Amino acid sequence: MAKQKNPARVGAGVYEGLFSKLYDNFFSNEIVWPFTKLAIKHLRLFSYSFRARTGLVSLKPEYAHCVFAGAFLGKSLGYKKISVIEFGVAGGRGLTALEKHAEMIGREMGIEIEVYGFDTGKGLPKSDDYRDLPYIWREGFYKMDVEKLQKRLRSAKLVIGDVNETVPKFFNDYNPAPVAAVMFDMDLYSSTVPALRMFEADDARLLPRIFTYFDDIGTSIFDYDYCLSEYTGERLAIREFNEQHDNKKISPHFGLLADKFKESWYSRILIVHLFNHAKYNEAIFDKEVDYSAELSL
Ligand SMILES: C[S@@+](CC[C@H](N)C(=O)[O-])C[C@H]1O[C@@H](n2cnc3c(N)ncnc32)[C@H](O)[C@@H]1O
Repeated sequence: MAKQKNPARVGAGVYEGLFSKLYDNFFSNEIVWPFTKLAIKHLRLFSYSFRARTGLVSLKPEYAHCVFAGAFLGKSLGYKKISVIEFGVAGGRGLTALEKHAEMIGREMGIEIEVYGFDTGKGLPKSDDYRDLPYIWREGFYKMDVEKLQKRLRSAKLVIGDVNETVPKFFNDYNPAPVAAVMFDMDLYSSTVPALRMFEADDARLLPRIFTYFDDIGTSIFDYDYCLSEYTGERLAIREFNEQHDNKKISPHFGLLADKFKESWYSRILIVHLFNHAKYNEAIFDKEVDYSAELSL
């Protein structure tokens, strides 16, 4: 039977394939890896997609990784177009980075990537609810200059308004390509809950697994002021989502967590699994290939 290569792997260069094969046995050495990493990032070695996958880009590597992972899955499953989203745009630093990652990765991988950014345009809404951590966040923080940002954006679309109102209408109003990756950065529990409802949309609107980044679930040893917990903020919204859905779960990205050299953002990348999605079980490795030969003596 003819070998049918996974379409997402077709464009990957020979050197990238070789590098991935040598990673475990050579490049993942404690002394070799820091230098290799610096060289790949600063000399811009390999393709943009490869650097995004490994987080070796300067702007928002966590966003780049999610865009790559979403595009890879989309391409593997035969999608021609996907969408990536940022919830919480503020001045637009994240959204412009997302736009760039989408352009570069989309071009290299041969998949169209639409970009959307949700924001009130007026900064954080008022809240006295302890679950929103008002001891950190204040009404009006991170106000956006909408006109200035609109001029900077090349392809991304701004969805202005409170997510309680914009999320329920989003699919009808914008008819976006299926959602593949979502960056959550609205700080508040009460804003994250309505945004997560996006994952209740029909299968045609979503990929079966969606790569997400949550900015406010823990950063570093220096975030002692935040005192984040499972009972407040984004973590509570995620926990409640999982409790309320039997066939949809937001889970850590165990592949990243198992990596020998962890970046601080690895634990903030989670994957939304839509177990009942029509494409959840569809094969993503090279079709018709029997991998059992690799394990024979
Ligand atoms: C920390 S800022 C985002 C920073 C941005 N992601 C970046 O990387 O530069 C949080 C943003 O979330 C937005 N936000 C919070 N709650 C919202 C809600 N209910 N609806 C829409 N936007 C909201 C605020 O307007 C604010 O601009």
